Amino acid sequence: MKKIAIMTTGGDCSGLNTVINRVVLGAKNRGWRVYGIIDGTDGLCHRPANVIEMNLDTVPIENARLAGSFLHNGNSCMMNFEKAIATGRMKEFNKMLHDSLAKLKLDALVLVGGNGSFSLAWLNRDVYRDLSLVCIPKTIDFDIPLTDRTIGFDTAVEQLTAYCDQILLTARSHHRWFVVQTMGRDCGRLALNSGIAVGADAILVPEIKFDVDELIRHIKSIERDYGIIMVSEGITLRGHSGRPADMIARKLTAAGITNRTAFPDYIQRTGDTAASDRILAAKMATCALNAIENNETYVMTALRGNDCVTVPLPDFYAAGDVRADPNIPAIKTSNAYIEPDDPLLKVAMEMNVYMG
Ligand code: F6P
Repeated sequence: MKKIAIMTTGGDCSGLNTVINRVVLGAKNRGWRVYGIIDGTDGLCHRPANVIEMNLDTVPIENARLAGSFLHNGNSCMMNFEKAIATGRMKEFNKMLHDSLAKLKLDALVLVGGNGSFSLAWLNRDVYRDLSLVCIPKTIDFDIPLTDRTIGFDTAVEQLTAYCDQILLTARSHHRWFVVQTMGRDCGRLALNSGIAVGADAILVPEIKFDVDELIRHIKSIERDYGIIMVSEGITLRGHSGRPADMIARKLTAAGITNRTAFPDYIQRTGDTAASDRILAAKMATCALNAIENNETYVMTALRGNDCVTVPLPDFYAAGDVRADPNIPAIKTSNAYIEPDDPLLKVAMEMNVYMG
């Protein structure tokens, strides 16, 4: 009988409870014991580690659709990678993590995280040397290389779509344009996908250079006096500071285009998990459990077409664009961005969407 644990790290998103529920379900079906680590690596820094044993009632099936993580994602009061690096205590921190995991005598750890967590896990891989480490990708940013989807992305697109559907009604009543700012950090996939879903007339993403005058000309050329301009939080405008949506809104106002800004903010990380994310969570949980059964380690589950496969963590790290993490510059994380051949860019062009 195997003994495994699951933990959720990084920013939350919808789908975490589904993946927890499905991992427990699949593990119990194999006759394994499952533990939940509370608050990610913070939980491992507690003495004793903050861990609970999980059964089918811990995250009941009717609650598996809810956003957030039943296991929590970390508490900034505790020791974490950021603080350990800032205070030069990385060695001590890694030892704390390793000792906690060793005491739990686990066969495997399922780490549900983002590109930061996976990069850190790979760079500090000695922490996980005595067990099988299997990572499941989740993030609304969809900025993880080598997978066709991350858990939480589709629900975030749904949330933004529902939000903009409502915004468009008030926009029409008042003959106004709305500049809607999405999350996504420095990856524009969330803005691009949700922009196409809502029928935005312009989508600005960090990966593509834009020209404000061209944007204004484009908006003025549209035979409608209202609509959505989707702006990713990662865009910059030379010589300007502040929130990207505000910067664009000021330019539109100066050009005589009536507009308002809208910030859906954290609702992008919430909402009942979309069916596609639940199916993805079930596929990834199954793939992770199979990987554990096959004694794989340092791997990430990845969606390839309709199938879920495992990819080695070193491949994940090497495949992305390795850059300094905005929150922890001392750490280099592996990132994915909109590719120039993304089919949605062509769709945007055909639909007369200004892409920048
Ligand atoms: O990485 C997920 C994400 O929601 C980003 O899109 C956003 O920039 C960031 O997290 C917000 O982080 P925090 O929860 O620290 O405000």
